[in-house]
Amino acid sequence: MSSSSFLCLAFTLILGGSIVVGVRGNDFTRDFDVVWGRENARILDGGRLLELSLDQRSGSRIESKNRFLFGRVDLQIKLVAGGSAGTITSFYICSGGATHDEVDFEFLGNVSGEPYILHTNIFSHGKGGKEQQFYLWFDPTQDFHTYSILWNPLNIILFVDDTPIRVFKNYEAYGVPFPKNQPVRAFASIWDADDWATQGGRIKTDWSKAPFVASYRNFRANACVWTGDYPACGDTKWMQQELDWWSWMTLSWVRMNYLLYDYCTDTKRFGYGFPPECALPN
Ligand SMILES: *[C@@H]1O[C@H](CO)[C@@H](O)[C@H](O)[C@H]1NC(C)=O
Repeated sequence: MSSSSFLCLAFTLILGGSIVVGVRGNDFTRDFDVVWGRENARILDGGRLLELSLDQRSGSRIESKNRFLFGRVDLQIKLVAGGSAGTITSFYICSGGATHDEVDFEFLGNVSGEPYILHTNIFSHGKGGKEQQFYLWFDPTQDFHTYSILWNPLNIILFVDDTPIRVFKNYEAYGVPFPKNQPVRAFASIWDADDWATQGGRIKTDWSKAPFVASYRNFRANACVWTGDYPACGDTKWMQQELDWWSWMTLSWVRMNYLLYDYCTDTKRFGYGFPPECALPN
């Protein structure tokens, strides 16, 4: 038996006593709390639409009421249009605490007409430093697009409109920490990061263009909801999901055409040796 099918089996047993919950419709009021910049978060259309804004006073952040241990979360986002330099709009999962686990989508704004960068990172047991950055193959300010994080005991996969852009495999067997014990919440936010976000921090936020508004809709959590003792799961097809051959081809296409930065090729930074996962197939 391969180590991965062993993992699946072990997990299936743990889930043996869990409650099945269905995926419910999107309602930001019901599913999230505004935890920063209350005045800058607007929930509209009966809970279906969320607008987070950034002005000189504050940004804003929401956090899911539920915690999840494994699952797939999807969120549709329409980014700040026009001049968005200095701003970061994000969607991420995070467990909190000093040894937190975290998976990030961060959209780095730009001057009008220049492309956003999609910055991704993964933290296991408090340690990040696993950045990959991409350009997108569409204008993310024109329409809503779906950004997804799939997280199971085998791997973490990031998708943009169902196209896989990044995989982080569970290489615990090779000494690479992998998030698997700490339940996470889902977060969305907008904030000012003009010290590094745009063209390496050279371009500052143009406050005359404020407020900067990002829109969110259709949050879905097809996930194991953490209830204290053991998680309750919905449809768990994703629990064994890995990339098939076709998905690997698509991922290669994304990397070949849109990858801008990969920590695993940053020789300046890792002159003394790359992290172990960089030498393993990913
Ligand atoms: C902004 O535009 C410049 C010029 O096209 C580009 O080099 C940069 O990667 C873009 N994105 C960010 C976030 O700086």
